[in-house]
Amino acid sequence: TQTIFSGIQPSGSLTIGNYLGAMKQFPELQDDYDSYFCIVDYHAITVPQDRLKLRERTRSLAALYLACGIDPEKSTLFIQSEVPAHAELSWMLQCVASIGELERMTQFKDKSEGKESVTAGLLTYPPLMAADILLYGTDLVPVGDDQKQHLELTRNLAERFNNRYNNIFNIPDIRIQEVGARVMSLQNPTKKMSKSDDNHKATIFMLDELKQIEKKIKSAVTDSEGIIEYDEENKPGITNLLNIYASFAEKPVEDIVTENQGKGYGDFKQDLAELVQGELEAIQNRYYDLYESDELDDILDHGREKADRVASKMLNKAKKAMGIGRVH
Ligand code: TYM
Repeated sequence: TQTIFSGIQPSGSLTIGNYLGAMKQFPELQDDYDSYFCIVDYHAITVPQDRLKLRERTRSLAALYLACGIDPEKSTLFIQSEVPAHAELSWMLQCVASIGELERMTQFKDKSEGKESVTAGLLTYPPLMAADILLYGTDLVPVGDDQKQHLELTRNLAERFNNRYNNIFNIPDIRIQEVGARVMSLQNPTKKMSKSDDNHKATIFMLDELKQIEKKIKSAVTDSEGIIEYDEENKPGITNLLNIYASFAEKPVEDIVTENQGKGYGDFKQDLAELVQGELEAIQNRYYDLYESDELDDILDHGREKADRVASKMLNKAKKAMGIGRVH
C-alpha cells in the first residue's frame, strides 16, 4: 500500500479553508493508504507563540482531527515535536538546501515582507516540511493549493539528496482537491482565507458558534448584479461561495450553479449557511467530547510510538548516507 502524509500547524483556530483544502479529504484516504497525520508544532514557532495557547491549540487540533473522522485504528496521528527524527532530518536537509531557493518561497516572502526582523526558522521552514514528508517514504501529500511550492521544493531536495548521497528517499506527489483547494476570504475574495486575518468576518472558524457562521456568510462580500454565476475574474465573491457550497455538498460546482439558477443572493446564502452549520455542528459535538478525554492522550502516545519507529529507520539511513556518526 502507498503512504500519505499531511500536517497542519497549531498556530491558531482552524478555518473552513484548512478543512475544505485539507482535512475534509483525510478520512476517505485512510481506508486506502498507510496514513500519517501530524500536528506540526515546530512549524508553528517560526513566528512567536504564547506558550499556554500553543499547548492548548496542539491538543485542540488533535481533537479536531479525530472529530473530523480520523480513525486511530487506521491512521497514525501524532505531534511533530514528539518524534525527534523530524528536527534531526530537517537539519540535514537544511545542509542540502540553498539560501537562494528558500528565499524564493512566496510564503517566506509574504510573511517576511515589511518586517524589520524575522526568525531564521521562517526561512528554514520548508526543509522541516520536507523532513516530515520524506521520513515516512510518503507517496502522496494531500494539501491546499498554497503548499504547492513547498511540495515542489521537497521533491527537489529529495532528488538532490538521492543523487548526492544515496537513493533512499521516495519522491512524493501532491494531491489537491478540485474544489476547495483555495478558499478565499469572505470580505476580500481575491485574498486567501487565513487563520490570522485581522478582520474576523473574513474567516469562518471550525469552532465558530452556529449563529456566528450564519452572520458571517450573510455579510460575505458579493456584487451588485444579483445573478448567481461562476466567474472568478468578475464575480470573485459569489464564485468563492459557490466553491464553498460545492465543497461542503461534495458535488461538482456546475451542479450548484444550475440548482441555484434565478435564486437571489440572500436565499442562496441562507441555504449555504444551513449546509455549513449542519456539517460543523456534528464535528463540534464530537470535538467537545474528545478534547477533555484521556482517550486523546492514549491515541497520541500510540501515534508517537508508531511514527517514531518508522521515522527512526529512515533517519538512520539518511545518517549513514551522509556519513553522520559512527557505523552501526
Ligand atoms: P497550514 O497549517 O497553514 O494549513 C493546513 C492545510 O490547510 C490548507 N489551507 C487551505 N486550503 C484551502 N484554502 C485555504 N484558504 C487554505 N488555507 C490553508 C493548507 O494548504 C494545508 O494543507 N506547511 C503546512 C503544514 C505542514 C505540512 C507538512 C503539510 C508541515 N509539514 C507536511 C503537508 C505535509 C502549513 O503551514 O499548513
